[in-house]
Amino acid sequence: MARDDSPAERGGGVADLVGVGFGPANLALAIAVDDHNRRSPERPVRARFLERQERFGWHRGMLLDGATMQVSFLKDLVTLRDPRSRFTFLSYLEGQGRLADFINLRTFHPTRREFHGYFEWCAAQFAGITAYGRQAVGVRPVESDGRVGEVEVVSEPAGGGAGGREAVRARNLVIGTGLTPRLPAGVEAGERVWHTRDLLLRAPALAGRADALRHRRIAVVGAGQSAAEAVEYLHRTFPEAEICAVLTRYGYSPADDSPFANRIFDPSAVDEFYRAPEEAKRALLDHHANTNYAVVDRDLIEQLYRVVYDEKVAGRERLRVLNATRLTGVEHDADGARAVVRSLTTGEERVLDCDAVVLATGYAHVDPHALLGPLAASCLTDGQGRLRVDRDHRVLTENRVEVGIYLQGGTEHTHGLTSSLLSTLAVRSGEICDSLLLRQAGRTLRGEGAVRAGH
Ligand code: FDA
Repeated sequence: MARDDSPAERGGGVADLVGVGFGPANLALAIAVDDHNRRSPERPVRARFLERQERFGWHRGMLLDGATMQVSFLKDLVTLRDPRSRFTFLSYLEGQGRLADFINLRTFHPTRREFHGYFEWCAAQFAGITAYGRQAVGVRPVESDGRVGEVEVVSEPAGGGAGGREAVRARNLVIGTGLTPRLPAGVEAGERVWHTRDLLLRAPALAGRADALRHRRIAVVGAGQSAAEAVEYLHRTFPEAEICAVLTRYGYSPADDSPFANRIFDPSAVDEFYRAPEEAKRALLDHHANTNYAVVDRDLIEQLYRVVYDEKVAGRERLRVLNATRLTGVEHDADGARAVVRSLTTGEERVLDCDAVVLATGYAHVDPHALLGPLAASCLTDGQGRLRVDRDHRVLTENRVEVGIYLQGGTEHTHGLTSSLLSTLAVRSGEICDSLLLRQAGRTLRGEGAVRAGH
């Protein structure tokens, strides 16, 4: 197990890999590397990770009471690659003394809070090779004879914390920087306008203040899982407030989690998708978008509908669904925010004076170009300007770039729907680890060949 005295720590100097971001994706990679190092201690991979958060955290702002995982616990960080690993969710449960209790729950879908505990438990075992509170701000190519064999990953203390700029050298870079909140055009987040990412970081403070709800209304914009979860949470947390769900759809649509459709998240589907022609890729993404995007678990839809109906029966409607309605603007004010919405069917515009506006408007992938700096110009792109990525998740580059640049995420156009999800992290991380070992072995062989040729 990677501890302070692990090979990765003792080595110093040039790391075999530096992972930027230490979310579940690079955590799964740390596990894959650790597994390799235990199997082959004679040729360890020396890995380091940079994470801008002060400690491990997986979407902390949405760890709502009762919210459950959207994947089976068997799609944890390791099982699909090696079910015998010490890092399975079942190992975690066993260590917590909850294995039998969990089995009695008869579910494949633990709560997000419990899975977060599992992630934290795994992450704690890599504390020695992870620099928390460090934001990677750039990558400098290290050139020798016109070839780039290494990079320096430059980081700064995140959020202006203590410490200065640092650079760590690596032969491989793995970018696992995840997603960034997407806001509607022209709308800015603020004191009372939050993206769902920050829901639990902001809403409880409001709930604890008697004077905070002047308008007794909170609007939630969006139609996906996070939107529906936010509506449910706010409705339960602010019993004195009206919760307005603003969605352009006619109603929440259920996520397709049926078994045949679910195969799109299998590791083998990544192979098929990767090899498919562009039109087939586009068609598959379109057909199966409803497994992941702008859809909601059926149980939650039914729960919310039941609330709406019961309130109608009781004559006090507090959960209002403004369907076929678009947010056209948000104005901030001292003790709230005004949401301007327009009905798509009648064109009628309404102003909702709110105590808070919650934007459940999704996420975008963080474009790696800015981080890559001058190296970005050496990365190959397709006709649409998207990075070309090999099956082993390595960005294709000009030949002179020997350093491996791997992507964890942002590869939906090449590797399919699992790109930003947890489903194939175990397998993908194993593939990245194998790929860099193979390239390392190739370099060693070439080096030995060159020495022999010199004799
Ligand atoms: P993730 O975003 O988790 O991690 C990236 C990390 O990089 C972050 O810790 C960030 O701080 C860090 N970082 C970013 N830039 C950096 C920089 N420049 N320097 C240093 N660190 C940097 N999927 C699924 O399959 N099943 C599910 O149940 C769910 N549930 C779910 C709930 C919610 C509320 C959300 C928002 C999303 C999901 N997802 C999901 C999808 C989600 O993308 C997925 O679960 C993982 O977060 C993907 O892990 P990553 O490590 O790729 O990104």
